[in-house]
Amino acid sequence: MDVLDVVVIMLIGLWVFLPAMLPNSAAVVFGGGKPMDFGRSINGKRILGDGKTWRGFFGGGLAGVALGIILMGISYIFDKDGLWGYIDFWKGLGIVICLSFGALLGDLMGSFIKRRLGIARGKKAPILDQFDFVIGAFLLTALFHWRWVYDTYIHEWHILALIFLLIVTLLLHRAMNILGYKMKLKDVPW
Ligand code: CTP
Ligand code: MG
Repeated sequence: MDVLDVVVIMLIGLWVFLPAMLPNSAAVVFGGGKPMDFGRSINGKRILGDGKTWRGFFGGGLAGVALGIILMGISYIFDKDGLWGYIDFWKGLGIVICLSFGALLGDLMGSFIKRRLGIARGKKAPILDQFDFVIGAFLLTALFHWRWVYDTYIHEWHILALIFLLIVTLLLHRAMNILGYKMKLKDVPW
């Protein structure tokens, strides 16, 4: 194992995780219409809030899955046997669906916790805002593809892929929110 092998492990860890990174940004574009909680509240506080819509959920989710299929297509050109970490098409598709919808479920969980804490829709919640989707993506994927999560992000040097992923996520989240704000898709730069 030399340095280059570890760099490859880190880059593949990021590459295969991209379908988890797109859905929440895509949800901003597709979002609107009926909120997922249909406007309902618990103890006077919205269950999820107006920032979580059905259109955003399914639009964002399908965008993530579509991206995953494109990534597998690109991988196939260079790595016919392992699809650069996705293993094979059907296995990869299962992983991609879990990553994409797991990210959105994590985001819902984040909003649910924010509302319970009395934090209004769109108001800042450090850590939760940045990592709720990562947690959701890993939990759902580990549930159905534990071995893959272990081999890709935990086993030996692969833990560096996870650390690299978390750092990139933090930087990307910040950059995307500033971009969304500048493009007037979001009201606040976080
Ligand atoms: N969005 C959506 N449906 C989702 C997730 C997101 O429609 N399931 C859209 C909404 O327009 C939302 C925007 O994407 O306002 C940004 O998402 P996010 O930052 O997660 O929501 P917030 O509005 O900040 O609300 P919260 O405080 O609940 O995070
Ligand atoms: Mg937000």
